[in-house]
Amino acid sequence: MEESALQHLDELYASLPENSRRHSRRTGQYMRIILRQMGFDQLEEDMLWGDDSPFDYHDIGKIKLPPSLLQQRWLYSHEEQLRAMAHVDYGGQIFDTLEAEAGEDANKAFFATAWQIAMFHHENFDGTGYPDGLKGEAIPFYARVCAVANAYDGLRNGFGIFAPRAPEAAIDKMSQKSGTWFDPSIVMALKRWVSLSPDAKTIHEPAPIH
Ligand SMILES: [Fe+2]
Repeated sequence: MEESALQHLDELYASLPENSRRHSRRTGQYMRIILRQMGFDQLEEDMLWGDDSPFDYHDIGKIKLPPSLLQQRWLYSHEEQLRAMAHVDYGGQIFDTLEAEAGEDANKAFFATAWQIAMFHHENFDGTGYPDGLKGEAIPFYARVCAVANAYDGLRNGFGIFAPRAPEAAIDKMSQKSGTWFDPSIVMALKRWVSLSPDAKTIHEPAPIH
């Protein structure tokens, strides 16, 4: 039972466009980097389901968006933006379904974390995000970490009509939203890594799918 649910997650992930898959894995890697900087380097192991980490699937709900919407370089109309925003609810629904499929042996910590990240990674620290307008520490911690990792990867690799930025330029841009969009302590942790680590210059490619 659990095995087939794990396979199901891998199949769903594989149906994301390649760019989204790579972005998802890099975002997971930036989450690990941030968590290590914050001193939380042991937590992920307890949350693994098989070999899968809850950090790697924040945008899984995008598989339910129309392909035409996913392929657009930019969402211009309000209606397009509203349709795309639904990916967070779709993501939550996907993890609810997978947890039911997995049955009693499912790792509850994996599902609790994956669900929170999928649902709340577009909440803003000042309460202006979606879907619920949660504010500050009412936003689950891992979703706040994901919001920072997600934006940083977008800035580093370029998104929509925007060109890729160097690490320092990306973190400077994010610092402007520290305290409004992002949790300041999480931005600080990423900034520390960018300033100290030669790895910050590399683009983190996704780990291979097992
Ligand atoms: Fe997203």
